[in-house]
Amino acid sequence: MKTIAIISPSVRRGRNSHRVAIFFKRYIEENKLALAEILDLKEYNFPLFDERLRHLPDPAPEILQFAQKIGSADGVIIIAPEYNGGYPASLKNVIDLLTDEWRKKPVAISTVSDGSFGGTQVITALQFSLWKIRAWTVPAMFPVPKVRETFDEEGTPADREVTGRRASAFINELMWCIEAKERMKG
Ligand SMILES: Cc1cc2nc3c(=O)[nH]c(=O)nc-3n(C[C@H](O)[C@H](O)[C@H](O)COP(=O)(O)O)c2cc1C
Repeated sequence: MKTIAIISPSVRRGRNSHRVAIFFKRYIEENKLALAEILDLKEYNFPLFDERLRHLPDPAPEILQFAQKIGSADGVIIIAPEYNGGYPASLKNVIDLLTDEWRKKPVAISTVSDGSFGGTQVITALQFSLWKIRAWTVPAMFPVPKVRETFDEEGTPADREVTGRRASAFINELMWCIEAKERMKG
């Protein structure tokens, strides 16, 4: 079984994008597509890193654990909340922390906002950072507008059918990239 790490970056009290992380974990597992784990940056409560992991003299166990989970995952989904047209500092903090763990890692991005545009402005900045760090970003998008109306706190979508269809296309593309990468190893 493949493994997918879902990064939920919002550390905000009363955050809403975490609903989308819960949805994807459930969707992936209920459809037996992979094993999915949410890497919750609010729970990790990382400091602002002053160096990359490879240069940190005495990294805390949870930092090593996070790096190991990204490194060993077959694919990653990033839930990217839109903050002023960009993605949150908590996410940049962990992107810049790692190096080899990101190399050729299939990464799918779901953007989330309170407004009507589903955080689509976030995509360019986040894609660029991930490209620079040599991750393999999947072209499929999963924008979530008006997140408080479209998902409840348990991650249940208001429109199950349409959301399920969109999620299927999104995850299929991630799985295709995971499969393609695996074949290249042979
Ligand atoms: C600092 C900050 C800036 C934000 N900027 C935008 C924005 O430009 N457009 C928008 O639609 N929502 C914006 N939001 C709302 C978030 O997109 C919204 O809270 C969403 O639920 C995702 O973030 P969350 O998981 O932290 O709740 C902003 C929220 C914060 C905290």
